[in-house]
Amino acid sequence: MSSKRTPSMSAKPASNTLLLSMPGNEITAEALGALLGFASMPITVHTFPDGESLVTLPEGIADYNVVLVCTLDQPNAKLAPLLFAADAARQLGAKRVGLIAPYLAYMRQDMRFHSGEAISSRTFAATLSRYLDFLLTVDPHLHRVHMLGEIYAIPSRVITAAPAIVGWLHCHVTNPLLIGPDVESEQWTAAVAEGLSAPYVVLEKIRRGDSDVSVSLPDTRDLLDRTPVLLDDILSTGRTMIAAVTRIRESGLPAPICVCVHAVMAGDAYQALLAAGAAEVVSCNTISHASNAIDITPLLAQGLLPFCQ
Ligand code: R5P
Repeated sequence: MSSKRTPSMSAKPASNTLLLSMPGNEITAEALGALLGFASMPITVHTFPDGESLVTLPEGIADYNVVLVCTLDQPNAKLAPLLFAADAARQLGAKRVGLIAPYLAYMRQDMRFHSGEAISSRTFAATLSRYLDFLLTVDPHLHRVHMLGEIYAIPSRVITAAPAIVGWLHCHVTNPLLIGPDVESEQWTAAVAEGLSAPYVVLEKIRRGDSDVSVSLPDTRDLLDRTPVLLDDILSTGRTMIAAVTRIRESGLPAPICVCVHAVMAGDAYQALLAAGAAEVVSCNTISHASNAIDITPLLAQGLLPFCQ
């Protein structure tokens, strides 16, 4: 059993909303709390030798609206402690229990691609919906599912990182050409290109396996004076972006700047992408990573307000 003391509030917070961070989400919760004037406190998770989790919430949360903060990369390890925390918050008297998940996992397995496969996005959504009252997230991978409400049974809000990405590119890149590595990325690429009044192209992608990806680039000979900016929602193995960087370099364009919303960065993705010739790799801070350069906390704060009335 953990010997750590349970954190508690030294003074009653002015607001009726409390932000409770799951481990690893303290910085996001504190930044949101500072922007909104909400208290933020950590939830502790002790892992027993057998792998089970002991989740401990701060004292004094009764009658507050509790907002759990937990980004959901590496979701399997995070799900059980998150559900324990949500259930405990309700038992301890929280009025409502919501979740800010800057990255929402399992959105890509939105159909049965091969016989026998689980449709994970639906089961994951049903599980979270069972324990939570609302959900706030950033650019979930909406493709065949068009709105979170199709699979989540609770009120949800989606924040798009596009304005923050536009702001960063506006300050750091002159004469950009936005490039989406596959048809699914067009929604983000088009929005950012419009915000910058810049042209965009979208590549065609074929994925044969987790790390086996090829893309084809349309004719960009009229755009050789532009700085290519590759933009995708999720950078996981990096193989999509690596294939795109290779095509872009072959076409005579300069080395691209690679931008993603969610730096999932599985395995050697970051190093491999830099080694493949990316000029720079930049991400939003929905998942903590060395590439984080674009702060989406103000957008999250705005998105949370309607849930805190
Ligand atoms: C899928 O369509 C997503 O938008 C990304 O393109 C994909 O998740 C990237 O994965 P990876 O980095 O493993 O190639």
